Amino acid sequence: MPNLFSPFTLKGVTLRNRIVMSPMTMYRSVDGKMDDYHVSYLGARAAGGFGLVFPEQLAITPDGRTTVSCGGIYDESQLEGLERVCSIIKSMGGVAAIQLGHTGRKGSVVTPWEGGYMLPPDHPNGWQTKAPSAIAYGGDLPYAPEALTIAEIQDIYASYAQSAKWAVEVGFEWIEMHYAHGYLGAEFFSPLANTRTDAYGGSLENRARFHLEALDAVKAVLPDRIPLTMRLGSDDLNPEGTQFDDSVVAIGWMKEHGLDLADLSFGGNTDDMRENIFNTPGAFVERANRVRREVGIPVGASWNLGKPQNADDVIQKELIDLAFLGRPALSNPHWPVWAARELGYDNPFGLVPDDWGWWLRNFRADQESIGFPAVSEDTAGAPVANATPTQGLTVGTAPVEPGAVTLDGVPADLPDEEERQVA
Ligand SMILES: Cc1cc2nc3c(=O)[nH]c(=O)nc-3n(C[C@H](O)[C@H](O)[C@H](O)COP(=O)(O)O)c2cc1C
Repeated sequence: MPNLFSPFTLKGVTLRNRIVMSPMTMYRSVDGKMDDYHVSYLGARAAGGFGLVFPEQLAITPDGRTTVSCGGIYDESQLEGLERVCSIIKSMGGVAAIQLGHTGRKGSVVTPWEGGYMLPPDHPNGWQTKAPSAIAYGGDLPYAPEALTIAEIQDIYASYAQSAKWAVEVGFEWIEMHYAHGYLGAEFFSPLANTRTDAYGGSLENRARFHLEALDAVKAVLPDRIPLTMRLGSDDLNPEGTQFDDSVVAIGWMKEHGLDLADLSFGGNTDDMRENIFNTPGAFVERANRVRREVGIPVGASWNLGKPQNADDVIQKELIDLAFLGRPALSNPHWPVWAARELGYDNPFGLVPDDWGWWLRNFRADQESIGFPAVSEDTAGAPVANATPTQGLTVGTAPVEPGAVTLDGVPADLPDEEERQVA
């Protein structure tokens, strides 16, 4: 039985654990580039033990960004920063994943803290958005997109393929296509945003065509060992929009086109949703599990899995294969270490690089003064009766060294093996 800290292998890539830092847009790029900010922020999460680390959604074209301060992978000048990001993630024991995105009719906006509203096409920081149909999202996003021509759709496939090729060249080892949250892929899938009457609209088969053809285009440039995955807007939570039953069918087709894992999320094509997923624990776990069972493909899910017991539980029950964490990764770069302590796994500090993990394991300290809260009494060890304690903790797993000396050369007076077990 797997647990949160079991390794996970997909194609030729093995993650040290099942904890994913979910993609999160930081609105901190100039000309779509990543810089020291992204290197330090992402490096810290990899050093904190996340197995798979995503930067934000990276746009495949300039008009595929959300704002002018969003990252991209559409120009060679962006590759150096991305290479640095991959390098730090890898050297801290993580696997670097990229989320290729195009925001469609939801682009050309300002940052959330500036109000998140849409800029008109003639604004210096805005642009004419493109989408399956010329239907504005509405509300704060009032400007209608232009409907994509077939030739423009073909160009988008070429951009996906070029970006994927560059991604592998700079060191990403996992490709996710962002087809959720009301962005371009989700728009094609949803009757709320797609009213085309050609081969890309109408029937489920037609609305999934953009997914299958884009997968084909990316697959063609990927080495065999690299997983190809998709975050799918699998449910608009609205009777007029994308229905989950349709998503299950379409994911079956995607599997035949080379999809290696489905990351289930919401459609995002309307604000009028009949379910509040934003603060429901494990909101997409049951849906993801249905895909896992019925399509026979590994799955990941996010939305409120930040309580360690919940994340571990859904992995142990084999409901999902990977736990994607967004806000918890923002608030605690060492979430995996905290989780390992809370859940009673052996050697939590084996998750951090040995340069400092060694000290945390070997240097006697008052456990409540070490920088983490004391392990909760009601949770310590409780859900992990069948867990395999050190499995997956691959960074800095050097054994505790008896007789080691302290910073200043004084014998460490190490506690015995039992005392060293956290929790
Ligand atoms: C600041 C922020 C930015 C986000 N940007 C993206 C993004 O670029 N791509 C994406 O697929 N999801 C994005 N999300 C959603 C997260 O990846 C994640 O799915 C969501 O926060 C739910 O997980 P959580 O409950 O662990 O936070 C973002 C979330 C936050 C908080």
